[in-house]
Amino acid sequence: MPSVRSVLAGLLATTLFQLSTASPIPIEEASDCLPSKPVAVTPTIPPSGNVPDLPTTNLTLLYVAIGRGIQNYTCTAAGATPSAVGAIATLFDATSLAFTDETAVHAIPPVAVYMPQPTSSLALKAGVFNPIGHHYFDAAGTPTFDLTAVDKILFGGKTGDVKAPTTANVGPDGTGAVDWLQLTKKSTYTSVGVQVAYRLVTAGGSAPATCSNSSLITVPYAAEYWFYN
Ligand SMILES: *[C@@H]1O[C@H](CO)[C@@H](O)[C@H](O)[C@H]1NC(C)=O
Ligand SMILES: *[C@@H]1O[C@H](CO)[C@@H](O)[C@H](O)[C@H]1NC(C)=O
Ligand SMILES: *[C@@H]1O[C@H](CO)[C@@H](O)[C@H](O)[C@H]1NC(C)=O
Repeated sequence: MPSVRSVLAGLLATTLFQLSTASPIPIEEASDCLPSKPVAVTPTIPPSGNVPDLPTTNLTLLYVAIGRGIQNYTCTAAGATPSAVGAIATLFDATSLAFTDETAVHAIPPVAVYMPQPTSSLALKAGVFNPIGHHYFDAAGTPTFDLTAVDKILFGGKTGDVKAPTTANVGPDGTGAVDWLQLTKKSTYTSVGVQVAYRLVTAGGSAPATCSNSSLITVPYAAEYWFYN
């Protein structure tokens, strides 16, 4: 868990490096003084370690969110294998931190998964992340990302699926981290302003190996969601 000091140290190091290379510096608002308005660098998706890894995209990264919620699984009987039936999560906007210190963002899901499910904001040492929307499955089982705060919505279909790294946080239930995914807009739905999402740096959310009864299983998880258009 990076402290505010380490985040700021990272920002300063990035700034000095960019100044020393004398290449054009992408700054959100050139009139603002550094380091109060840090240099913006488009973050790149971290490798999962799988070969092949998730498909790439040439679209533009718009938002990076921290998702905190639950993965649901149904069970038919004791001893059966749980079956995934969807998820529900609140999405918190970590875009500005991602564009200034991507490493600090990767440290959030393994911490957030142990926090109570927040509704108003996700407050961590490095900052406060405001809700940007919700993730849920619609009645037809389509993964939906409703970014209400920015009036955008993605109805996705899975276009990539790899195992989380072996080092991923297993979550409070100790069942392991759910897969990293790429989701692409479904042609049969009208998505608005977002075409591709990635679920990355997952913590928790996997089902237990077997069911202990026929009840719904809900497993806490956190992840990063990256949205492109
Ligand atoms: C991205 O652009 C490069 C260069 O034009 C191209 O070779 C590559 O196939 C593109 N990748 C995707 C996923 O569209
Ligand atoms: C998952 O379970 C929770 C708690 O029972 C429920 O509120 C939510 O609607 C469920 N979502 C799905 C997609 O099953
Ligand atoms: C089903 O199993 C879970 C996990 O062991 C347990 O928490 C829950 O109370 C059980 N439910 C019933 C109805 O027995």
